Amino acid sequence: MSRGPVRIAPSILACDFSRLGEELEAVGKAGADWIHIDVMDGHFVPNLTIGPPVVEAVRRSSDLPLDVHLMIEAPERYVEAYVGAGADRLGVHAETCPHLQRSVAQIREAGAKACVVLNPSTPPEAVEWVLGDVDQVLVMTVNPGFGGQRFIASCLPKIATLRRWIDERGLEVALEVDGGVAAGTIGDASRAGADVFVAGTAVFGADDYAAAIAGLRDEAERAR
Ligand code: DX5
Ligand code: ZN
Repeated sequence: MSRGPVRIAPSILACDFSRLGEELEAVGKAGADWIHIDVMDGHFVPNLTIGPPVVEAVRRSSDLPLDVHLMIEAPERYVEAYVGAGADRLGVHAETCPHLQRSVAQIREAGAKACVVLNPSTPPEAVEWVLGDVDQVLVMTVNPGFGGQRFIASCLPKIATLRRWIDERGLEVALEVDGGVAAGTIGDASRAGADVFVAGTAVFGADDYAAAIAGLRDEAERAR
């Protein structure tokens, strides 16, 4: 199975929330492929962010696929709420799911694409035996909780391992990277095998969103 096209998913964590609708329209026009939404609970990660009502508001303001990243303990409590609010793709951390296969099956049953997320210190083996049951794997390249952190390059071999497993098994699994993705790091992540790239600061911190997204896409494509 070949790699999917390069996809850029701006994370709204870095946007101006007082103008959420306008920001979503702007990144849509600027060429974003997906919208990434970071949900934090103040327990699994030391920050609090977005609940289902805001996801519902994003759903009404954008036609792009919503890629919702749950950084919360016991995420199975909220799968139906986030899918009902409009999540097209829903990610749960392997570290929060003792019954990971059950959790990903629950996401698919609720009607969304299922994603498993791995913290920097979590080995790829955490997802190895559910790889055939997921639509996406997200490799964190920062410790989750905040935008604007530095890319942790020691996660790159993990991306390469997952790419190899996905290809060897002929699976159709999107391989996403999140955290510190910017010009200068996206090429390395792409070379390692990622095909979906979350970018918060690198997009919303730029003056020209279209130029930022095009620059990221170009670097990712050239590194393949
Ligand atoms: C971190 C979040 C990321 C974050 C990315 O916990 O999962 O999605 O918003 O932000 P940047 O691109 O600024 O590192
Ligand atoms: Zn995220």
